Amino acid sequence: MNVDKLDATARRLVADSKGILAADESSRTIAKRLESIGIPSTERTRREWRELLFTTPNIQRFISGVILFDETIRQNASDGTPFPKLLWRKGIIPGIKVDTGVYPFAEHPGEKLTEGLDGLRERLVEYVELGAQFSKWRAVISIGEGIPTQACIDANAHTLARFALLSQEAGLVPIVEPEVLMEGNHPIERHAQETERTLAAVFDALQTDRITLRGIILKPNMVASGLEAKVQANPTVVAQATIRVLRKVVPPEVPGIVFLSGGLTPEQATVNLHAINSQGKQPWQLSYSFGRALQGEALSAWGGKSEHLKAAQEEFYTRAKLVSLARDGGLEKST
Ligand code: 13P
Repeated sequence: MNVDKLDATARRLVADSKGILAADESSRTIAKRLESIGIPSTERTRREWRELLFTTPNIQRFISGVILFDETIRQNASDGTPFPKLLWRKGIIPGIKVDTGVYPFAEHPGEKLTEGLDGLRERLVEYVELGAQFSKWRAVISIGEGIPTQACIDANAHTLARFALLSQEAGLVPIVEPEVLMEGNHPIERHAQETERTLAAVFDALQTDRITLRGIILKPNMVASGLEAKVQANPTVVAQATIRVLRKVVPPEVPGIVFLSGGLTPEQATVNLHAINSQGKQPWQLSYSFGRALQGEALSAWGGKSEHLKAAQEEFYTRAKLVSLARDGGLEKST
């Protein structure tokens, strides 16, 4: 294993002012997003949407890497250039989501287990040939009465570790994503407690499996109030709770932590990231790997109409710029 190469890729992904665009929605999820603006999800509309994002002028100022879906890494832009090549030309690192989705965890009502380990070693070799330099696997932990169970947390932690080990063996930087969902009406304290429990189990499993921690990126949720909770913690409280949990359980060797947006609005995700990066110096880079929070406004502006392409790219550029300022704790300079 070439540890220095993994380390260099990980550091490039969390370089100053930059973060990752998550554009790896599964066929089902992207269908939901496209249908929300009134257009059907077809191979063509999915390609057009992703091409709009990737060809946004100068987006490489704020985007270090893009997570692709299996279909997307094999698609070409309208001029025939394969998407991974188009991204490389802009200095953006292509990555790939390699899990195959979440399924009910048998005998554990309300809980999910992520699948995709079967045949993963061979798939990773192919993704490297297609131009990927990093990979992603998402585990989902739900909060409710009596859940998460330790069994669900441990099973997901072990599959994340297996994924990370195989990725590093293939020369890919694994983005380890244990998402403790914000869905629910739980207070922030409960989210903090379950996030800490989950991340502790994940790092335990990573260390048991001898993962090289300086060659991974952690992609967690911010610690926040449940999306349906009556009392919503403000960004400073979110930032303090998030940092408190991360400092307890994330070893300093990990080069970077990139947050998912998890259903927060683009504005909330941006302001929270700014608050997190205003809490003083931390051992790791604290950056972003948003899906919805980077794409939402651009998707609405586009509406599937070619005459709106430029306006949509401007929305994407503007949000990415704000998120980048927030990542450096400099959001107020923009206003
Ligand atoms: P959101 O930012 O929309 O939560 O998506 C990030 C992601 O990659 C989820 O797996």
